[in-house]
Formats: sequence, structure tokens, C-alpha cells
Amino acid sequence: MVKFNTLMLGAGAATMAAAAPTILASNGTSSGCTFTDNASVASKKASCSNIVISSMTVPAGETLDLTDLNDGTTVTFEGTTTFGYKEWEGPLISVSGNSITVKGGSGHVINGNGAKWWDGEGSNGGKTKPKFFYAHSLKKNSKISGLNVKNTPVQGFSINSSENLTLDGITIDNSAGADQGHNTDAFDVGESTGITISGAKIYNQDDCLAINSGTDITFTGGYCSGGHGISIGSVGGRDDNTVSNVKILNSKVVDSDNGIRIKAVSDATGKVSGVTYSSITLSNIAKYGIVIEQDYENGSPTGTPTDGVPITDLTVKNVKGSVASDAEQVYILCASCSNWTWSGVSITGGEKSSKCEGVPSGASC
Ligand SMILES: *[C@@H]1O[C@H](CO)[C@@H](O)[C@H](O)[C@H]1NC(C)=O
Ligand SMILES: *[C@@H]1O[C@H](CO)[C@@H](O)[C@H](O)[C@H]1NC(C)=O
Ligand SMILES: *[C@@H]1O[C@H](CO)[C@@H](O)[C@H](O)[C@H]1NC(C)=O
Ligand SMILES: *[C@@H]1O[C@H](CO)[C@@H](O)[C@H](O)[C@H]1NC(C)=O
Ligand SMILES: *[C@@H]1O[C@H](CO)[C@@H](O)[C@H](O)[C@H]1NC(C)=O
Repeated sequence: MVKFNTLMLGAGAATMAAAAPTILASNGTSSGCTFTDNASVASKKASCSNIVISSMTVPAGETLDLTDLNDGTTVTFEGTTTFGYKEWEGPLISVSGNSITVKGGSGHVINGNGAKWWDGEGSNGGKTKPKFFYAHSLKKNSKISGLNVKNTPVQGFSINSSENLTLDGITIDNSAGADQGHNTDAFDVGESTGITISGAKIYNQDDCLAINSGTDITFTGGYCSGGHGISIGSVGGRDDNTVSNVKILNSKVVDSDNGIRIKAVSDATGKVSGVTYSSITLSNIAKYGIVIEQDYENGSPTGTPTDGVPITDLTVKNVKGSVASDAEQVYILCASCSNWTWSGVSITGGEKSSKCEGVPSGASC
């Protein structure tokens, strides 16, 4: 900066005004912000606005800590980023700040090394597994784009307390986890506003998306394979239990337990309103094409719906495709559901459910 200004005094004001933004944008506030080790990130990130994480192995039990970045910082992952093994809660990566851009360079991969932790128990037991990526308190039009992620030990992106954040073109491939990589949710959203997730390509073993709370959330152009479907919930029993204005659009769910689902926690309070699922294609769904239940408990729904988390103003439009032969097409278990609009819902294969209860007018089971 100092050198630059001195140079500019000689060059004249007009040139200075034109040249300054370009050089700052490509160069950051100081040079040397390409990091190959976690220790340098910790000591130098405060003086960077253009950070490159280059072929880094993050030591076991440590977070690649990219929190509190300078406003407008760009972080680029290059080469292979990977992580040492330790049983701990994580996260492996954490990013926060305003107007932050996180992206991947060509050919990069962020490999969570999940196989070391996968034991078929996910977050319900066995080894303590680190969460993968905290996108917490990312605000003011921050963007995470084009990341190529493999093998998260357990949950992938945790989006919490964020506002106006876009996650675009993210691939998460946990297919190597098959029957061992449990609870590898791709995106968990809580207490956030203005979140757009577009063009995600997910191969995992739990929810492709799970919205626990938040408002103005869009998921579009997603491809979800191997998991539990595109979910709202579970809602209830947390600090914030309100989900509103959610759009799930133009997405595909294949080879998964469920297509789309909404889970309200049994005996809890909260509210789910203004959710739209539109143009969703299903294929080879093992349990339920569409499942909406107000009896949820982790692992074992009670079978008796409760009315503390009403589900209102729900639109299900153009949800089409097929379920496996022993799956149910649509399962609705409601004690408080109203103002639903369904159109163009056409699910073939499997069987009709005989357990539906409290189905509001407009929907059909
Ligand atoms: C940063 O700026 C310096 C001087 O303006 C230039 O020589 C260097 O190539 C730039 N580095 C990058 C990564 O753009
Ligand atoms: C790695 O980064 C974390 C978070 O900034 C820090 O606590 C830890 O000390 C760093 N590790 C090393 C070896 O510097
Ligand atoms: C988020 O976007 C909305 C709508 O554009 C705007 O009103 C709000 O101020 C933004 N908030 C932040 C923190 O960027
Ligand atoms: C979001 O973060 C807050 C504060 O850390 C925490 O209390 C809450 O449980 C988180 N919510 C979700 C849904 O993860
Ligand atoms: C019913 O839901 C629609 C949107 O899904 C909303 O626009 C409308 O206000 C709701 N009507 C009532 C009576 O709540």
C-alpha cells in the first residue's frame, strides 16, 4: 500500500483512481497470502484479502480457521486440502465474515478423509466425528462456489446465523461411505435468512438439505443421490423453531430413502409456513416419495401426530417420478396442517399408504 501510493503521487490522480481497484482486487492488502500450513493462516489472515489455501494438510484436531476475515476477502482452495485424524467434534473448516467469496481452483479437492471415522453410527455413537464446514455468520452477499468436496466424516455444511449467503455449484461425494458414512447431511440450515443453494450435486447418506429454522431459503437445481431426501426439519426442540418462505425448485432425488419430507418433532412447538416444492423428480425412492409427519423423534417416530408445530401454506407442485416396489408413494401424518395446495403430483410404483391421518383438503394420500 505505502509503495503503491508513493508511485501514484507521481503518476497523477486520474491514473490512480483507475488503477487502484484492479490491483487491490487481485493482490490483497499484503502479498504472501498463499498458505500451505494452518499455522500461517492463523497468524496472517488478518492482513489478507486474497487468501489461497494451497495443498494443505490441516493437523489432526485443528480447525482451518477462516473466521473473522476482512470484509470482501476471497479464499481459493487449490490442490488437495485434507485433514489429520482425531476423534473430536470439529469443525474441520470454519469461515465467517461479510461479503466473503470462497471458491475452488481448477482440479482442487477438499477431502475430509471420512473413511477414517465412518463406523456406521454417524453422530449417534461410535467414534466422535468432526463436522466438516461451518458457514456460520457469513453475511452481506457472501458466496461459496464450485467447491469439490469428498468424504465428510459426518455432517457437511452447517449454515447457521448467516444472512444473504449463496452456495453455488458445490459437489459433495460421500458415495464411498455406502453403509458406513451415516449422518452425512449435505446442508443443515439454522437461524439464517436469505440463503440460496443452487446446483448442488450430492452423493451422501442422510439429508441432502435439512432446514431446522430460518426464512427466505431457496434450494434450486440440486441433484441428491443416496441419502434421505430434501427435508424441512426436524423442526422443534431447538432455540429457533420457525421455518418460513422456503422454495425447493427444479431438483432431482434418486436412490434415496425419501424424496421430499417435512418432519415436525413430537410434542414440540414451532411453525412451518410458506414452503413450496416445485418441479422435483424422484427415482428409486426406498421408503416414501413424499413424507410429512408431525410425530418425529430421532430414529423412531411415535406414530401419533401432535399439533405444536403447524405446517401451513404448503405448495407441492409437479412432483413426479417413481418409488421402489416396497415403498409408499405419499405418507402424511398430521394433527395441524392447513392451507395446502397440491398440483401435478404424480408418483408411481410402490403402494399407497394405509397410515395417513389428518390430511388437509387440497392434498391427497
Ligand atoms: C501483486 O502485485 C505485484 C505488483 O503490483 C505484482 O508484481 C504481482 O504479480 C501481483 N501478484 C498477484 C498474485 O496478482
Ligand atoms: C491451526 O489453527 C488453529 C485455529 O486458528 C489454531 O488454534 C492452531 O494453533 C493452529 N495450529 C498451529 C500448529 O499453529
Ligand atoms: C439481505 O438482503 C436483503 C434483501 O436484499 C436486505 O434487505 C438486507 O439488508 C440484507 N442483509 C444483509 C446483512 O446483507
Ligand atoms: C445455531 O447456532 C446457535 C448458536 O451457536 C446454536 O445455539 C443453535 O443450536 C444452532 N442452531 C442450529 C439449528 O444448528
Ligand atoms: C395459503 O397459502 C398461500 C401460499 O401458499 C398464501 O399466499 C395464503 O395467504 C394462505 N392463505 C391463508 C388463509 O393463510
